[in-house]
Amino acid sequence: MTKIIDGKKRSEEILADIKEKIDINKLKPCLAIILSAVDEASKIYVNNKITAAKKVGIETRLISLSNNVTAEEILKELDKLNKDSFVNGIIIQLPLPSHIDSSKIIDAVDSKKDVDGFSPYNVGRLAAGIEGFFVPCTPLGVLDLIKQEDTNISGKNIVIIGRSNIVGKPLAQLLLKQDATVTICHSKTHNLKFHTLNADIVICAAGKEKYFDKSYFNDNSFVIDVGISREESGAICGDVDFDSINGFIKATTKVPGGVGPMTVASLMKNTLKAYFIQNEY
Ligand code: GUN
Repeated sequence: MTKIIDGKKRSEEILADIKEKIDINKLKPCLAIILSAVDEASKIYVNNKITAAKKVGIETRLISLSNNVTAEEILKELDKLNKDSFVNGIIIQLPLPSHIDSSKIIDAVDSKKDVDGFSPYNVGRLAAGIEGFFVPCTPLGVLDLIKQEDTNISGKNIVIIGRSNIVGKPLAQLLLKQDATVTICHSKTHNLKFHTLNADIVICAAGKEKYFDKSYFNDNSFVIDVGISREESGAICGDVDFDSINGFIKATTKVPGGVGPMTVASLMKNTLKAYFIQNEY
């Protein structure tokens, strides 16, 4: 039997906890989302974020920009949001249109409102192993799910497949802070199976539809699937071929219903934290 770690259920627990804190203390957190109309998947992710925010009592402000928006126009919107004392958290849904230098935009987000944890201050603090304001949402969600199954990861071999700034790199730093032994693999890694077959935990964040079958794992593997792809049929699937690994490995998350809802729940957690930081609780 392969144990399924249920991210949907865990995210609902986290959201219920956030809602209770907001209701009891009559808080009014507000999250601003900048979305450029470039990417269909981004629109779905942003809708999920707005729905979750509504559920817990976080107000949202959606700033929708067109595909041909300029960097100067985004920076102007950002400046307003940075200065607006009613806005606690700001995210820029990525990717931005290809003519825009994303790093220039991300660098301009006030680090105390940077609930994605992508600004230089927050990235640097995490890399240095020092507490910053915010840690990126998907890594936070993955760590929570790992702890549902394995409460002591000190010394364990954890392999991350994928080296993005959103998942792979910050997740490695978060896990190092927990004393795990972390290996980051990527598209140029030689003999990937050598790494995955010897790992206690494998985190697949490669963005490769159903790529990892049971030959990558052993019967004691614990797998976290961060991938989200859309099959030709329209169904959502992850990086892992679930039918192949189910019944063989020890534990796994599923797609949908695994990491995705945890990313959203972590964003709500960070937004509430931003409210507390700005209101100096
Ligand atoms: N695009 C894909 N994942 C994310 C995320 O976690 N935050 C933002 N802002 N954009 C994304």
